[in-house]
Amino acid sequence: MCGIVGYIGPRIAQDFLLEGLRRLEYRGYDSAGTATISQDRELNITKSVGRIAMLANEIQSAPCNSGVGIGHTRWATHGAATVANAHPHFGGDNILAIAHNGVIENFAELRSLLKAKGYEFRSETDTEVVAHLIADCLGPRPTELPGMQRSIQMAVDAIKKAIGKLRGTFGLAIIFKEWPDAIFAARLGSPLVIGVGDGEHFLASDAQPLIGFTDRIVYLADNQVAVLKRDSLQVSHREAGPVSHDIQVLAVESNQVEMGEYDHFMLKEIFEQPESLRNTMRGRLNEEDATAVFGGLNLTPQDLLKVKRIVFTACGTSWHSGLVGEYLLEDIAQIPVEVEYASELRYRNPPMDENTLIFAITQSGETADTLAALREMKRKGHLTMAICNVVGSSIAQEADGGIYLHAGPEIGVASTKAYTSQCMALVMLALYFGRLRHLSYNRGRKMIKLIKEVPDKVEQALTENDRIAEIARKYQHCNNFLYLGRHYNFPTALEGALKLKEISYIHAEGYPAAEMKHGPIALVDEQTPSVFVMPQGFIYEKVMSNLEEIKARGGPVIAIAAEGDKRIAEVADDVIYIPQTVEYLQPIVSAIPLQLLSYHIALLRGCDVDKPRNLAKSVTVE
Ligand code: G6P
Repeated sequence: MCGIVGYIGPRIAQDFLLEGLRRLEYRGYDSAGTATISQDRELNITKSVGRIAMLANEIQSAPCNSGVGIGHTRWATHGAATVANAHPHFGGDNILAIAHNGVIENFAELRSLLKAKGYEFRSETDTEVVAHLIADCLGPRPTELPGMQRSIQMAVDAIKKAIGKLRGTFGLAIIFKEWPDAIFAARLGSPLVIGVGDGEHFLASDAQPLIGFTDRIVYLADNQVAVLKRDSLQVSHREAGPVSHDIQVLAVESNQVEMGEYDHFMLKEIFEQPESLRNTMRGRLNEEDATAVFGGLNLTPQDLLKVKRIVFTACGTSWHSGLVGEYLLEDIAQIPVEVEYASELRYRNPPMDENTLIFAITQSGETADTLAALREMKRKGHLTMAICNVVGSSIAQEADGGIYLHAGPEIGVASTKAYTSQCMALVMLALYFGRLRHLSYNRGRKMIKLIKEVPDKVEQALTENDRIAEIARKYQHCNNFLYLGRHYNFPTALEGALKLKEISYIHAEGYPAAEMKHGPIALVDEQTPSVFVMPQGFIYEKVMSNLEEIKARGGPVIAIAAEGDKRIAEVADDVIYIPQTVEYLQPIVSAIPLQLLSYHIALLRGCDVDKPRNLAKSVTVE
């Protein structure tokens, strides 16, 4: 969802901007643009609707050798996806160009004020308001200063004054024709990362575009304004003045963001899961004490023993892993758990005991609703933790502690490897909390042994890929699917349905298998397949009865079953076998065939698997 890039240095800015924007494509967008400063100090803006490839064509027809520029991918909020609404936008009398992530809530009122002052609006965006507001705060260039440059501090002051008038969220990249040797950046609520190179600086809304260019990064904090020049970086707080900045080292390799031998990032990420799970587990299983180890919770065992209740809050796929966490923590650690949609929790006022621990689960660490829910819980005085993939993301920084997934960059919009890593982190969390309470040493040891086998089982589940592609061919034209499972496999059913919806645009519903009798069974016909997630377990017989009920009504059944289950082959139309595993680990292994099934169906239907329509990877608006 909206991406920003910026560059100042000896390279041709547009080359980096295009590469950076390509790497931000995964966030979701519908138009894009760049702005550079030419040698004769003019601002050049190039914009286009659609893919970055279209923008690259536009740029090729009018290239610019400038070493200073900003770029943007836009995911429409205010106004349709048109060239006029695409960023960057001019401000004032074309004195500056600006790119913006986030939403300005008081834009209508500011727009009327600026219109009354004579500013002309060429788009419907909230961003253009910011552009004119900064120009207005800067004031006209005095006519008695021909040839003399105003101090750059005036630009910084104008930005600070303008952002002080904004309500909402923003990450801003700005260039002025009056100060052609600088890029200005400011943030409140929308992340910005600065890359520090030798004689060059980079700017981006997350670290992806910087990989391979520099590994030295600075995370801009809320209410900070930065001035990037070739050889210097200055950061100041909107009110407090100059602040020092920490340079951190980014630990990602560039091949982690390339597709390699795969046709899509999603497929690559599905196949990376044995490795991403190993990375999530690495160093966190302590056999000697039969427990898990987390270096980042920042809480002592004494603090954790006081926890009487856990609340998981998240959105989308991460909410589903929260549900898996509920089964795990209640079953293994006997701690009451609730799972809340972050978008609901942020405005609800649930009574919460002081001993409630909050976990925000998020791949990106930037989801606006999850961040807001976390802040609301912090405000109420609760300890907050993050289970997060992106190091240094806003949620990771704001939580009191947490667990990084270390799943590696996830580019496909539909989450796959981050989901299974979240489930794995939650399994280990359940072990940890369990061992603090009643879980015996022996049971802890047994859990560790089984957890360690998971990556190999996932590897084995992936070998069914060709068979799953065949099944996908058979059902590709169906327009409705049901996904059913019980107990630990109920969240898996929800996640399977969401995956199919997200990337193939097929209507799919996930339900607890038995609940299907109370409504969804009315949908069953020859054209509505039901995907049963039913590896062996204590609930198997019950799910089998639900399956028979569907068959009795003529509905086709695809079963995800444990290898060796011969009975299922007699009743289901198609079976995808996965390796046997204990119930609490089944969500991780069962997710694999469901991800592959969605992938193949979407592919057969000609959908853009990595960038599904209307969706964004990082949802930074409410
Ligand atoms: C978007 C993405 C989903 C993701 C959800 C939550 O909707 O398309 O794949 O599950 O946001 O994102 P988070 O980064 O917080 O896990």
